[in-house]
This record gives sequence, structure tokens and C-alpha cells, in this order.
Amino acid sequence: MVPVAETIAATRAAVAAARSAGRVVALVPTMGALHAGHAELVRVARRLAGPLGCVVASVFVNPTQFGPGEDFDRYPRALEADRRLCGEAGADLVFHPSVAEMYPGRPVAYVDVSELGDHLCGPSRPGHFRGVCTVVLKLLNIVQPDLSVFGAKDAQQVRILRRMVADLDVPGRVEVAPTVREADGLAMSSRNAYLKSDERAAAPGIYAALLATRDRYARGERDAARLEAALRADLAAIPGARVDYASVVDDETMQPVARLDRPALVAVAVSLGRTRLIDNVTLS
Ligand code: PAF
Repeated sequence: MVPVAETIAATRAAVAAARSAGRVVALVPTMGALHAGHAELVRVARRLAGPLGCVVASVFVNPTQFGPGEDFDRYPRALEADRRLCGEAGADLVFHPSVAEMYPGRPVAYVDVSELGDHLCGPSRPGHFRGVCTVVLKLLNIVQPDLSVFGAKDAQQVRILRRMVADLDVPGRVEVAPTVREADGLAMSSRNAYLKSDERAAAPGIYAALLATRDRYARGERDAARLEAALRADLAAIPGARVDYASVVDDETMQPVARLDRPALVAVAVSLGRTRLIDNVTLS
């Protein structure tokens, strides 16, 4: 079974030993409740770090990225299963700190992102990206990896973290692993476990709507407003779906675009019952 470090000091000591043996260090930050999508992140980290590399997976449900009324308390926690999955996918160490270990006092220093968080998930989850950036910077400072791996499903998060690392000169590169999907197209997410059976049956409609958008683009549609309108109509037809956003934005800046004359991201957030799901495709 892959070892678990519960303290920052133990994690730093394990990483220091790996580094002094000349091993490449890779970090896979997660909030646990791991699934095949996370296993892919660990496998990508292992591949990039090499067979002799040291792959650290962190499992920490980060309270500062949840808003009031969000699912921090009910977020699934399953350390033993997570540990097994990490080991099978090729991790060498699981870093599983407590909230007190990560935030021993009331934190007053945060990492704030500016305009990359103005659209998509930013407005409906105030403070979310500030919490994500802050905890990821803490994890990067604790592990000091040569590379870290994040999932493409969280497209806005990836763009923001890349920018944070570039703007703050954080050493180590940020790598992105593709979204892993269920056979019916639903993007894997720890939150899929919340879906009731009728919601689960409806959920693949989200990816189908994104693929229909990609088809319209492939057939020559370049007007973002028309693409968004058709996407919203497709999403509205999913039984029980409430659309939070369905937007076409610049793939790098995350700002709205009028015409698709450069790479774009089509991103959606849709609630089914009490479960909010996100997904995206790129157009280029
Ligand atoms: O993507 C996630 O699971 C989280 O936002 C992350 C990057 C682990 C930070 O808590």
C-alpha cells in the first residue's frame, strides 16, 4: 500500500530524500473521492516523472474553495479507496493533511486572480478560485515539484493556475491530462456520486450538447452568440437541467468572444437536482 504522510514536515522529508537521490518529483493535487479521471492524472505524472520519479498525490478537501451553502461537508471522503487507486496508478506517496495542518490559524494571505475568474465559474462561486490558487500554491511550496498535473475538465482552473505559476515565477511546469469520460460521455467527477438515477440518466446530455456545438463549429459557424444560443437550447432540453452558464470564451484569457477567429473554449455548468456539473470542449 502506498504510504500516507499527514504532515507537511513528513512530506517535505520524503520529497527531500527523493530529490537527493536525483529523482524527478511530480505532484497531483486532488480533493480525494478518486475515480478513473484521477487515476489518469497519476499515470500522466508517472509517465512524465519517469519510472524512477517520485509521484506525490495530495488528497485534501480544501475548505477555502467552497462557498457558504456549497458541498464542503458532504463532499465524499474515502481515504483507503483513494490510497489504493493512487498506488495502482503509480503514486509513491499520498499527502493527506488535516485542515489544521494546512490552515493552522485564520489565514490572512491569499492568492487572488483577476480577470481570468470574471466569467464562467467565477461569478457563481465567489472566492472559489482564490481558494484554489491559495491551496495549490501552498501544495507547490510544500512539495516543490518539477511538474504538477491537473485535469482538462476543470478548464478555467487550469488556465488560472498556469497564469498564477507564470505571474508568480513558481518553479515547475503545469501539465494537463485529458478529461476521462464514462462510456455514455459523462465527464468523470467525484460529484457524479451525488446524482440520483434519473439525473444520472439525463447527465450525458451535457456532453452531447457540447459535441453538437463542436459540430456546428465544424460546419462553419463562427458567431459566438449563435453557438451559445443553440447550446443553451440543447441544454434546456435535458430533463431537469438548470443551466448556470453556457459560454464561448477565448481559450487563454477566458473572456467572451464575438467571433471565433482564434482558439476558444466552450464551457458549461449545469445543475441536475442538487448536483452542479461542469464540462467543456475546445474549438480551434
Ligand atoms: O481540482 C481539484 O480537485 C481542486 O480544485 C484542487 C486543484 C485539488 C485544489 O483543491
